Amino acid sequence: MAQIELVDVEKTYGRPKRGHEARKAVSDLSYVIEDGHFVSLLGPSGCGKTTTLNMIAGLEDISGGEILIDGRRVDDLDPDKRDLAFVFQDYALYPHMSVYENIAFGLRMRKVPKNEIDRRVVDAARRLDIDHVLDVKPKSLSGGQRQRVALARAIARRPAVFLFDEPLSNLDALLRDQTRSELKVLHRELNATSVYVTHDQEEAMTLSDRIAVMSRGRLEQYGSPYEVYHEPATEFVASFVGKPRMNLFTVQRQEEGRYVLPGTAFALDIGAVGQDEIRAGLRPEECDVRAPLPGEDPHGHVVAVEPLGNVSDVHVAVGDLEFLVRVPGFGSYDVGDAVMIDHRGARLHCFDRTTGVRLPVG
Ligand SMILES: Nc1ncnc2c1ncn2[C@@H]1O[C@H](COP(=O)(O)OP(=O)(O)O)[C@@H](O)[C@H]1O
Ligand SMILES: [Mg+2]
Repeated sequence: MAQIELVDVEKTYGRPKRGHEARKAVSDLSYVIEDGHFVSLLGPSGCGKTTTLNMIAGLEDISGGEILIDGRRVDDLDPDKRDLAFVFQDYALYPHMSVYENIAFGLRMRKVPKNEIDRRVVDAARRLDIDHVLDVKPKSLSGGQRQRVALARAIARRPAVFLFDEPLSNLDALLRDQTRSELKVLHRELNATSVYVTHDQEEAMTLSDRIAVMSRGRLEQYGSPYEVYHEPATEFVASFVGKPRMNLFTVQRQEEGRYVLPGTAFALDIGAVGQDEIRAGLRPEECDVRAPLPGEDPHGHVVAVEPLGNVSDVHVAVGDLEFLVRVPGFGSYDVGDAVMIDHRGARLHCFDRTTGVRLPVG
């Protein structure tokens, strides 16, 4: 059992210099991680993910606000009193100990009885398919196996909370996908609250019950994968989540409810928003391209086609904008073709031009 609650959590490293306020690494973080949920902290490098995780772990003091685990304040509790296990990007294994000893070490420190240690080490090693290397030293293992040892060590602890800091980022692409699937299975089996730091939106989407999207030390959105993908709360979330990236552009009011991309025939019926200029977003995979009908003014022309096999990315110059449309198969368009962007099947996302906050439309 472990529910984690952050209330106005803030972190400033170091002391402020005289006359200067120290820069906050994170601020105003408030959200609840429900018991048993897998929650990703997602955002670009430097946005405060590791800082947040370390504060939950107790490896860093918090500068303001509070953190509660099951309703109990833990800001002053030592890391080893918090019942959590950490899995780092660089594995942090002891080189002079065997795999068995690495997995068992934390249990010995906690004075777990010997036969219980043995049971847990063997069980964790089996789950991660490393039971045949228990006697060897980490240096003779592959990167993927080392990461499994680190995972097994965390699992053997049977903690209430797992904390992961970019655990897959040192693995090559194939192994990363495979380990990601295994992590998902493990979480379903163990059902322990998990907090997972990543800059990879695909990892966050595939693994999580909830995603905390962060930018510059602040929370942009806390929601399910469906919500951050289909109802991004800010333009930042819209641009960060989803691959290929959402088309985002500024449109101007032509008449009430109708907005155009300046200098083009590309128009959107947005409804009454009450602003002359807004940011609009359309996902490449929800749009289509088509040939103009006779007499129709084309939106733009194709500048590049990138076939990926199952889909093709068609780049269309629309005024100053390069609009991306992902079409099925190899597509039937060539560079230079005049085309219309068909967005009838697409969800339209609109954001305030200055604040980036989502605007209700439609
Ligand atoms: N020990 C530290 N001392 C001073 N500044 C730090 C320290 N750790 C992180 N920071 C700063 O805090 C911000 C957030 O860093 P971090 O939490 O590591 O981001 P992320 O994990 O998202 O890449 C960055 O600006 C970083 O430079
Ligand atoms: Mg980090």
